Amino acid sequence: MQIYMPTNVYSENNCVMNHSKELAVLGSKALLVTGRHSSQANGSLEDVKHALQEEGTAYVIFDKIEENPSIETVMQARELGIQENVDFVVGIGGGSPMDAAKAIALMIANPREDERILYEACELGCLPVAEVPTTAGTGSEVTPYAILTIHARRTKQSISHRIYPALALIDSRYLKTESLNTLINTTVDALAHLIESYLNTNANSYNRMYSEKGLRLFAEIKDDLLQCRRFGGEPKQTLSDDVFDQLMQMSATAGMAITHTSTSLPHGLSYPVTYEMGVPHGKAVGIFLPGFLKFYQGKEDVRLALGQMCFAGVQDFTEYLDELLGKVEISDDLWKKDVEMIMGNQAKLKNYPFAMDEETLYKFRR
Ligand SMILES: [Fe+2]
Repeated sequence: MQIYMPTNVYSENNCVMNHSKELAVLGSKALLVTGRHSSQANGSLEDVKHALQEEGTAYVIFDKIEENPSIETVMQARELGIQENVDFVVGIGGGSPMDAAKAIALMIANPREDERILYEACELGCLPVAEVPTTAGTGSEVTPYAILTIHARRTKQSISHRIYPALALIDSRYLKTESLNTLINTTVDALAHLIESYLNTNANSYNRMYSEKGLRLFAEIKDDLLQCRRFGGEPKQTLSDDVFDQLMQMSATAGMAITHTSTSLPHGLSYPVTYEMGVPHGKAVGIFLPGFLKFYQGKEDVRLALGQMCFAGVQDFTEYLDELLGKVEISDDLWKKDVEMIMGNQAKLKNYPFAMDEETLYKFRR
């Protein structure tokens, strides 16, 4: 058994300012990688700029990361980074900017290479990366994964390189400006990470500690989240500071879980749904979680996972998720393509501890 978690993680109020020195020590000039709006609205970009100014560290901003970032965007940011001679990268935002930051850091460190190296198995250097998450979902602040959109293949895929952030600065206050839908979708993403890591070929008693902790955190907040969905409105008016803290902890813990096991079939099945239908990542993964649990062959492990979440059974879990997420209809054509694609995806299939066939997969669709 092995456990390896090299990212230096801080989680507290005012985290970025409190740890400005640890951030600045990563280099002499930073590329701040973010999206167009949310990091400005929630104050995270301002905090990072302020922290670097305090330490006298230069920076340049690339704020064009789209949802489900493409290789083209990564290459555009790389050009800016090389031009500006940056020597570290800070990802600020949800999974998209954080994942992109890792790929950009890799590409800047290898200026003579083109984008093909992202998906080649080879040893490459990489600039140091710090991550400041503003959603509670992907856990990218602690994982070595970077998932990019490959337009040529009409799907998303993790790059071939494992890039651990050197530093993760987590502050749950950034969650408070999120919309209800984003908060729910990202929470379901983190939940999927916990479940897919727990029920995984690579699961062992060390890394299952992360899933168990995260699933218990979810059990504590799941009713608050459902209440929030039932009554609508802004999450910050309904949820307490403690719930926001627990959501951030759950997401980071889930990230630590998949760092050791990777994800499984629900994630693999979700990527074409996101690409073809524009369904947000967490919601797309949530479509497949009930079927994954229902048809998983290790029934005792499913019972244990449901118990950590305080659900009586798969039916109970399914009803909860249906109400929280709403249903998504997938066309027969897309579903057929999706199942065919996953049956050819050895990386995901090997994380499922039992034999899988098309007939069973077809039953996953809710
Ligand atoms: Fe995910």
